[in-house]
Formats: sequence, structure tokens, C-alpha cells
Amino acid sequence: MKRPIVLTGITTSGSPHLGNYVGAIKPAIDASKKENNNSFFFLADYHAIVKTKDSKRIAQSTLEIASAWIALGLDPTQVTFYRQSDIPEITELSWILNTIAAKGLLNRAHAYKSAVQQNLAIKEDEDAGISMGLFGYPVLMAADILMFNAEVVPVGKDQVQHIEMARDIAQRFNHLYGKTFELPNAHIDQKTSVLTGLDGRKMSKSYDNTIPLFCTENQLKKYINKIKTNILEPGESKDPNDSIIFEIWSAFATEEETEFMRLAFKDGIGWGDAKRKLFHLINGSLIEARETYFQLLNKPEDIEEILNEGSKKARPLAQSRIKKIRESIGLKPLF
Ligand code: TRP
Repeated sequence: MKRPIVLTGITTSGSPHLGNYVGAIKPAIDASKKENNNSFFFLADYHAIVKTKDSKRIAQSTLEIASAWIALGLDPTQVTFYRQSDIPEITELSWILNTIAAKGLLNRAHAYKSAVQQNLAIKEDEDAGISMGLFGYPVLMAADILMFNAEVVPVGKDQVQHIEMARDIAQRFNHLYGKTFELPNAHIDQKTSVLTGLDGRKMSKSYDNTIPLFCTENQLKKYINKIKTNILEPGESKDPNDSIIFEIWSAFATEEETEFMRLAFKDGIGWGDAKRKLFHLINGSLIEARETYFQLLNKPEDIEEILNEGSKKARPLAQSRIKKIRESIGLKPLF
């Protein structure tokens, strides 16, 4: 049986946080351990430069996110693990797809629309501060996915629209030039795919409301203590479905542990107690990886070597695909 291609990326614009782990890293590593698939995981640094112009931060984030993948158990010999910018064919494909993607489709992208809304709210020009890179972000994502003909894309719920756009662009291309691309599908883990951040909005680097995946135990405790709760006292029954603590708990807990906490909420567990339990659960599941992670940060040459090996696997595939794509659109030798 043909092995489905699984592909996902993480934008390298900040330090890895619990949301990255739950939404992308963990489901991707779990999927890569199943024998019958073929996985592509990458560091989306071309996407990162849309979000920040801080070049040091991009480089540091690339090291941190790559180290996190490896520390959490990704086996780079079993998958193709690479840095997006090591594969220039992806940006070439992105331009080609730009000539296919409808502007009206991209006008509807949530990230672009919310940037426009924010401008209007402060009576600015609607496109103030919005680069073509931000507007075209979904097209580059489509290129990431279609470059390797990925069919399964594990992502957080917030990225589903982007995968649908990639499908739409692939369909248009296939219609115009003949079947070239498989149509990708988003895979989301219903329970946990987007975590809520400290302030109640989606956990995201962009909102500065994240809990870092790797920090000292004391820092982790402090972050967890910052999670927003309400004024209910110990002894008063609490609604698990309205609690960030319960949501993060469920992302890390077994089913039994989740049921245990659901009951504890009903029975009026105090917020302090719930936070202590949450700390122990998260700390317990990250303790080993944390040590490896901090060791890897001090060995950037090892990470660089892993990424070089990855691009040696990915690049020839990309080169042979782009050659065919160029030919099918008419960019080819004259005789
Ligand atoms: N945009 C994604 C995010 O911010 C990262 C990403 C870039 C990605 N290219 C991708 C995810 C391709 C899946 C497939 O989370």
C-alpha cells in the first residue's frame, strides 16, 4: 500500500510553547511512529520573516524549535526533517501558485482579515503595516504542502482554513495543467488542537500569552500561576468547560486523569490546588525532554548537521517535482 505523506511545519519566530507541542509537535511525532507513513517536518523560517524582522530571534528560534522536536523524540533518520529556506524550490513553487491563487480567496484569510479589522478599529488605513508576505502567507503554505504532495497535514484548528486554501489552489492548478497535486487534508486533534493562552485568547507567539515548553520548574510554576481563573472559592463547584486549567490538563492527561479532574472541578477543587496538580502533570511529562533540550541548545553544530541531512533528502525530491511543474506550465527548453 502506498504510504500517505504527512507534513507539518512550525514558524520559527519565537520559543517553542505548550501550544506548539499540543497542536503540532506531539501529534506529528506520534504519527511518524506509525510504520505506514512517510513524514516531512520542517522549520518554517520563510514564514517567520513575515512575522518578525528581528534576525537574531529568527536564528535563535530555529535552533530552539529544532532542538525541541529532537528532544521530544523525533527520530530524524525515520522522517525528513528540514529547514524550509534550505529548499529554494518551495519559494519558486510559491510564485507559480501565486499566479493561480485568486486574490478574492486570500482576501478571506482570517489572519489578513483580522489585521485589517485592527487597523480599522484604530481608524488607520485598512492595509497599514500589512506586507505582501502576510497577504500571501497561505500561498507559501500551499507551496510547502504541495511541493511534497502531502495528503495529511496535522495542524491546530486555526490553520484549517490555510489547508483548505491549499486544496483550492491545487484543484485549480490540476484543472488548468492536468493532475499534478494530491489534495491535502488537515488533521486536527479535536480535544486539544488549539490551546488557550494565559490571557484567554489563543496561545500564540503573536499575543505574547504563551507558556514556554521548556523553562525551569520555578518558571513553569510561575507561568501556571498566571493562568486566568474566576472568583469561585474552594468548595464551590466549577465548570471544567470554561477553564483554561482544565483545557491544558486534558491536553496532557490520560482519559482517566481527565475524568478525575472533571470530578474534582464539580466537587469544588480550589484554583491553587488545581494549578499545583497541573504543574506536576506537565512537569512530569516534560522532565526528561527538558534536559535533552538544554543540552542540544549548546550543540548548534549537531542540529545543523541534522538539518543538512534532512535537506539532502528533501531537496532532490523538490528538484524533480519542480522540473515537472515547470514543464507543465510551459517553462522548458525550446527544443
Ligand atoms: N503557518 C503554520 C503555523 O503558524 C506553520 C506552517 C507553515 C505550516 N507552513 C506549513 C503548517 C505547512 C503545516 C503545513 O502554525
